[in-house]
Amino acid sequence: MVTINDVKIIELPKILDARGNLSFAENFKQIPFEIKRTYWLYDVPGGECRGGHAYRANEEFIIAISGSFDVVLDDGKDRKVFSLNRSYYGLYVPKGLWRDMENFSTNAFALEFASTHYDEGDYIYDYDLFKKMKYNGEI
Ligand code: TYD
Repeated sequence: MVTINDVKIIELPKILDARGNLSFAENFKQIPFEIKRTYWLYDVPGGECRGGHAYRANEEFIIAISGSFDVVLDDGKDRKVFSLNRSYYGLYVPKGLWRDMENFSTNAFALEFASTHYDEGDYIYDYDLFKKMKYNGEI
């Protein structure tokens, strides 16, 4: 069963240059899956929260390209806050974790790579159901 301990903060390569720095990530190298989809969050109004769900199968890799925000992850037993505020760190979020995103700074830009194509059926929106599925080892 996936737990909070399976979450990883991955330091990305950083090519320092007087002309501006560069970082990158590749499938199965820094990102531990094959990217099927990418999306991004921006213009998040102060005080707003995103997420509020778990995925049955989708894995993600989240980078704070600019600004900062917190990713709150919960495995039904333990909950941990991961604060992202550097463009050269990626947060690997395995499937089967409840996730909230909050405390977005002004101009925060969250870039998210996903291991699956968008599928509404992959979402679990009910926390009690999530906990039950976790308890039963279904996710
Ligand atoms: P959602 O995943 O709930 O956003 P978040 O978890 O960041 O709060 O998605 C919000 C809306 O966007 C929802 O109506 C579905 C749509 N959406 C897509 O159509 N494709 C995608 O790849 C994503 C991530 C969302």
